[in-house]
Amino acid sequence: MQANTLSWDDDAASLPSGQAAAPAISTIVAAAVPSPAAANSERRVNAADKRIINGATDVNQLVPFKYKWAWDKYLAGCANHWMPQEINMQRDIELWKNPNGLTDDERRLVKRNLGFFVTADSLAANNIVLGTYRHITAPECRQYLLRQAFEEAIHTHAYQYIVESLGLDESEIFNAYHEVASIRDKDEFLIPFIDTLTDPAFTTGTVENDQKLLKSLIVFACLMEGLFFYVGFTQILALGRQNKMMGAAEQYQYILRDESMHCNFGIDLINTVKLENPHLWSNEFKEEIKALFHRAVELEYRYAEDTMPRGVLGLNAPMFKGYLRFIANRRAQQIGLDTMFAQEENPFPWMSEMIDLKKERNFFETRVIEYQTGGSLNWD
Ligand SMILES: [Fe+2]
Ligand SMILES: [Fe+2]
Repeated sequence: MQANTLSWDDDAASLPSGQAAAPAISTIVAAAVPSPAAANSERRVNAADKRIINGATDVNQLVPFKYKWAWDKYLAGCANHWMPQEINMQRDIELWKNPNGLTDDERRLVKRNLGFFVTADSLAANNIVLGTYRHITAPECRQYLLRQAFEEAIHTHAYQYIVESLGLDESEIFNAYHEVASIRDKDEFLIPFIDTLTDPAFTTGTVENDQKLLKSLIVFACLMEGLFFYVGFTQILALGRQNKMMGAAEQYQYILRDESMHCNFGIDLINTVKLENPHLWSNEFKEEIKALFHRAVELEYRYAEDTMPRGVLGLNAPMFKGYLRFIANRRAQQIGLDTMFAQEENPFPWMSEMIDLKKERNFFETRVIEYQTGGSLNWD
C-alpha cells in the first residue's frame, strides 16, 4: 500500500466555514452574430463559471480545475486504496470459535455492530450513485464521489468478509436493520433524506429544493458518516486495543480513515455550496439542522445503550453521551453553526490518535499482503 499523501485527520476539511471568498459570478455574453468557430470556442469551460450545484458548464470536462480540494481528496483516496481480503482473519476466527475467547457481551457487541454496518454502507453507496452524484455539477466533485462510491463498496465487502470469516448467521446480521430497533431507527432517520435525492422527479434550481439538497448533504456527511459511525468504530477499535478481533479492528481502522475523508469532503462540499448560495443558509434552515443534530445524537446514544447494556471493554453507554456531544459540536462548527452542547471533553482521546495515525506502518500488524499499485502484469 502506498503511504497516504494527504493528512486525513479529523480536522482536514480544507474549507472551514466562511474562510474562502465566493468567486465573482461571471456571465457569458454571446456575440451578436457568432461565427461557427467562435460559437464553439464560447462553449469552452471557464473555471470561474463552474458551480457545485445548478452549474451550466460541461460536466464532462474535468479541467480547468476550480475545486482543487476535491481533486486532492480524490488523489488521497486513491493513495489509501486497500482491499478487505488483504487482512488476515485467522486469529479472529480462532478467538470467535473458542468458547472462552470472548464474553457474551463482547459477542453481542460485535453482532449488533456488524448488524448496523453491513447495510449502512450500501445506503451510503446508493445515496451517492443514485442521488447526490446527479445533482452535483462540478466534475472535480463528481470524480471524488466516484471514488467514494467504490470505497463504500469496499466497506460493504469488508463487513461481509468479517461476517463470512466468523461464520455468523448472515440472515440475522443482514436483517438487523429491519429487526433491531436501535439500528432500524437510525436508518429510518436517514432514509427520507436519501429518498429526496434519489427521487427521479427531484431537481435542484429552486430555493426549496436547493435547501433539501443541502440538508441531505449535511445529514450524510455530518450525521451519518460523521456521527452514526462513531459508536461502532470505537467499539471494534477498543477490542483491537485489547488484542481481540485484531483483523476486524484493522479493517475498521482503514474504514475509519476512508470515512474521515468522506466526512471532510462532504464538509468542504457543504461549505462551498453555502459560499456560492448564501441565501440558502437562513435562520429557519439553521434551526432545522440543529434539530436534526439533536435527534441524531439521541438515536446514536440509544444505539450505544442497546449494544452495551452493561459496561464492556472498559466502555459504557454513558461515556458515549459525552463523546457524541463532543463530536456533534465539532461537526456543527465545521459547517459554521454554533456548538449545541455545553463543552464536552473527549472521553476517548485514543480515538483521535487512531484517526491521526499515519499509515506507513500497519497499526495492528496483521497485514499479510502488500497492495500492488502496478507492475504486477506480465506484458511479455
Ligand atoms: Fe463507508
Ligand atoms: Fe462513507
